[in-house]
Amino acid sequence: MNNDSSSRIVLALRKWISAAAPGAKLPSTRSLVAEYQASPVTVQKALQTLTAQGLVESRPGVGTFVRAVRTARPADYGWQTAALGAPPSALPSQSGTMRDVPNSVMPFHSGYPDRELLPERLVRAALTRAARGDAALSRPPAAGMPELQQWFAQELGSATPAGVSPPTPSDVIVLPGSQSGLSSIFRALVGTGQPLLMESPTYWGAILAAAQTGVRVVPVPSGPDGPDPVALDRAFEETGARAFYAQPNYANPTGAQWAPGRGEEVLEVVRRHGAFLVEDDWAHDFGITSNPVPVATRDDSGHVIYVRSLTKSVSTAIRVAAVIARGPARERILAHRAAESMYVSGLLQAAALDVVTQPGWQTHLRSLRQQLQSRRDLLVTSVREHVPQAHIELLPKGGLNLWLRMPDGTDLPRLTRDCEDAGVMIAAGTEWFPAEPAGPFVRLNYSGPNPGAYPEGARIIGEALARNGSR
Ligand SMILES: Cc1ncc(COP(=O)(O)O)c(C=O)c1O
Repeated sequence: MNNDSSSRIVLALRKWISAAAPGAKLPSTRSLVAEYQASPVTVQKALQTLTAQGLVESRPGVGTFVRAVRTARPADYGWQTAALGAPPSALPSQSGTMRDVPNSVMPFHSGYPDRELLPERLVRAALTRAARGDAALSRPPAAGMPELQQWFAQELGSATPAGVSPPTPSDVIVLPGSQSGLSSIFRALVGTGQPLLMESPTYWGAILAAAQTGVRVVPVPSGPDGPDPVALDRAFEETGARAFYAQPNYANPTGAQWAPGRGEEVLEVVRRHGAFLVEDDWAHDFGITSNPVPVATRDDSGHVIYVRSLTKSVSTAIRVAAVIARGPARERILAHRAAESMYVSGLLQAAALDVVTQPGWQTHLRSLRQQLQSRRDLLVTSVREHVPQAHIELLPKGGLNLWLRMPDGTDLPRLTRDCEDAGVMIAAGTEWFPAEPAGPFVRLNYSGPNPGAYPEGARIIGEALARNGSR
């Protein structure tokens, strides 16, 4: 086909169309063939191009017509605001950590591991097997595939000490990622307008889920050893809250792991107040120099609502997590899940189960530990060398992030902007605080692509910080 002559016809017809009235009928294909001395195929191609450009529309068997010209006018959805009224509270928007910036050299801001840290071979094989099996065409039970429920229960049960009854598979609810589980838990166990205690700083997604659910967040300061049990006790006392959301192992964003014994102390406080500990074990597979022992292993009386995610360790595309809860709390969460999503894709559940039950999974986790350690150490060294003004709050024993305190007075929006202009994405710590930030913090993720460029990335941050202070 002759593209040149098709373009020639398009140009000529565009001129014709601009002079024609909306709805005018174009000459027939036969007359266009004659007029432009082109083949019918070339004329058809020109008409297809004009259709794709939105200038004409064809009505089969009737002809081709000029479409009504659409003038670009500013969208006005103001009526929606009037109809919806003011939001109940100023809702936080989506986190900057979720931004995809195609040309950034160094995406320190993202919370997700690079694919070289994922068990790619296991994932691909698992997806192939899942696609061939029953899971591809059947609907699993609302609480999850029994075999996957069993795997989650067994994992927690295997760390449960003697004297504490381990969870059973029927305590498990499989989730399409833990984020939506947090919303269900807050809604089912706390409720709109009721207080929810949260470590501060804490995961922005939990703050967002709480805000969307309409629960009232009460921050409880948490440091490198975890929250102070006395302060936690006081917060329960003063607010009458009945739940505390926390990350005892490798917290996002700080990397903190609660000091030995802190879990029991917190559990004691929670029990005394007849409350729940919502334990978010998002980084269970990311231990570096320690192992994560969930607080949930010490509870069999239904006080701990345990949330375990596989999203970041198996694959961000196989987004599967679980909540393990006992008693009526579990039933209420399940009821909410059913209303929300009915069930989780069996294909994803089967693939996730396949990955974590392969012998290669343990081998992968061992190598992941080493890779995270060398990435973390390289980033720490790079920051110490190039950003000496930044204070490293703690050397994380696990997780994916380094939490830095910048000098007081740092203009964080300007710092992030200047770094971004130089191709380095960093996350301002502000979004991890449920209330006012305790200082100018920055979170750097050491599981993203291109670790070889960490020193260069740190150098750019250091330069931007120097400019920041010299305003
Ligand atoms: C602390 C924490 N909890 C939960 C989640 C959500 O995980 P998922 O992908 O399983 O929904 C994240 C993801 O960033 C997280 O950092």
